[in-house]
Amino acid sequence: MAPPAVELRNVEKSYREGEAERAVLRDVSLTIGTGEIVVFVGRSGSGKSTLLNLIAGIDRPTAGTVTVNGTDLTALDEQARTLFRRRHIGFVFQFFNLIPLDGVARVRELLERVGLGGRGASYPERLSGGEQQRVAIARALVHEPAVVIADEPTGNLDAETAAGVLELFDTLAREARRTVLMATHSREVIGVADRIFAMERGGLVERTTC
Ligand SMILES: Nc1ncnc2c1ncn2[C@@H]1O[C@H](COP(=O)(O)OP(=O)(O)OP(=O)(O)O)[C@@H](O)[C@H]1O
Ligand SMILES: [Mg+2]
Repeated sequence: MAPPAVELRNVEKSYREGEAERAVLRDVSLTIGTGEIVVFVGRSGSGKSTLLNLIAGIDRPTAGTVTVNGTDLTALDEQARTLFRRRHIGFVFQFFNLIPLDGVARVRELLERVGLGGRGASYPERLSGGEQQRVAIARALVHEPAVVIADEPTGNLDAETAAGVLELFDTLAREARRTVLMATHSREVIGVADRIFAMERGGLVERTTC
């Protein structure tokens, strides 16, 4: 049987604050199936970005394991994690940063999908915040990752453009069986979720509605 898309077992993440340790995630366990759209909610500072960074292998937990498509990321060194991420994960940062794009066909097609056709040759500094965000989304999808992780993906977008981006994620999950994980404060993003988890006091609580 295929392994789950994402599995967290007893994950803890603490940050040092001077002499003290502050726990942001406490004993988080979670299993996400292939093709699911999972949304994490919770107040600012509750640990959503921290959690997504661990699943993407950008950061390591203080304790516990993070397994993506059967690979235990916590058993890999930083270089192997980076390689794994490049192959299997598409990550859209909350505070995205762009490098100039190359104009390959797949990027153009994805830019078309997010409503930015014809802007493939633009320099990032000449794009608006929302345009940059859509380029960041297109770039995260170009290598056709099995797991798409997006931290507040519609934060800078107007309602119509946001709806287009969410439709793209929805199609990726339904038709291409990609697993999509998002952190958000937005009702519209919550609306496309198969499962919703609220971050509360360092733990995850599954919600049926929000
Ligand atoms: N590198 C770090 N060093 C120390 N503390 C950190 C670090 N990164 C995050 N934190 C702390 O961890 C907590 C959780 O932060 P995180 O960014 O995960 O929250 P969030 O739920 O994504 O919030 P938001 O909704 O504002 O994006 C915060 O209190 C933050 O200050
Ligand atoms: Mg965040």
